[in-house]
Amino acid sequence: MPSLLPGKTASKIQRIGVLTAGGDCPGLNAVIRAVVKSAVQRHGWQVLGIRDGFEGLISGDDAIMPLTAETVYGILARGGTILGAASRANPFLYTKRQQGSRISLDVTPRVLERIEELGLDAVVVIGGDGTMRIARELHEMGAPLVGVPKTIDNDVEGTDYTFGFDTAVGVATEAIDRLRTTAESHHRAMIVEVMGRQAGWIALHSGVAGGADVVLIPEQPFNLELVYDRLTHSFAAVQRSAIVVVAEGAYERGGSPVFRHRAGSQDKLRLGGIGEHLAQLLQERQEEDLVSAPGLEWDIRVTVLGHVQRGGAPSSTDRVLATRMGTAAVRLIARGRLGRMVALRGSTLADLPLARVARVPRTVPLNCDLVLTAKELGICLG
Ligand code: F6P
Repeated sequence: MPSLLPGKTASKIQRIGVLTAGGDCPGLNAVIRAVVKSAVQRHGWQVLGIRDGFEGLISGDDAIMPLTAETVYGILARGGTILGAASRANPFLYTKRQQGSRISLDVTPRVLERIEELGLDAVVVIGGDGTMRIARELHEMGAPLVGVPKTIDNDVEGTDYTFGFDTAVGVATEAIDRLRTTAESHHRAMIVEVMGRQAGWIALHSGVAGGADVVLIPEQPFNLELVYDRLTHSFAAVQRSAIVVVAEGAYERGGSPVFRHRAGSQDKLRLGGIGEHLAQLLQERQEEDLVSAPGLEWDIRVTVLGHVQRGGAPSSTDRVLATRMGTAAVRLIARGRLGRMVALRGSTLADLPLARVARVPRTVPLNCDLVLTAKELGICLG
């Protein structure tokens, strides 16, 4: 395999692969289309689609799908990924069932062998921070890879924006707008739980865009008393309603994030439930006050947006970014610049070595201008 490094120049390249790993997000198909169109039309290369992320480089021939300008016709505006995605197929820790129990294996030799068998001069790996770490390690072992970052959470270090984020913020903002009218009619507090495991970008952007009263993000554990005071203030004001946007990874100061876990399941812990938990804390807090000030009662309702934020058609902003990133990945391959990840810096496309993609997610800096803006607008960040 190391013979494949550094990359072949454009004239020597014949065939490349493309795969989508990790969770899906709007814009994946736009990247696939851009990779195929520029590779085929500009360079005359063949493109093989690899199904279900790295799984397709571990299993057999039916996991490979030749991609042409015809096969990618009409997918630009489609959500999801025509290649399928598998968040659990990590070749360094490949989990399978054997005699009723789960075992984890290192199947990287199989992945390297498969890239060679398929005659792939390069593979475009589209994924989040976990996928970029896998890509970096495989590249260090000799695999000819380039990375394209994706995630609705916008938390891949090294790039200012990932495609999928704009669409998710749009979905969350529309939900807030809809919840506001019913909140105002019934004089209620509406809690909207949005995605964001370690980074509160979706909550912060949609909260500001939707004019929320409170935005809670994982980067700043919240003080319940401050949240309660802000809501009391909103109910005393003319609006007599309130919107609270909470990222799934947010938690109370001194507490810990809320997970949902299926009884008996061996799945990795899944975040979820902070919205309900917060509603309960606020309810209890309100009951203490109602003893001395009856009549100031307000109802609370919780909406969990969940995977609605990840599905559906990408926004035009995400389509453009995904398309730019797909063509940029092909340009990197054509120039023999393997082992790099495409990135957006400001408004310009750039790239950086996969080895420089940090091991930690890109979280919201508490002194960034949007946080300051939110505070200056009177939004409570807990
Ligand atoms: O990382 C993207 C993301 O959508 C997170 O915001 C969320 O916690 C997670 O994926 C959900 O993953 P799954 O689809 O595996 O439940």
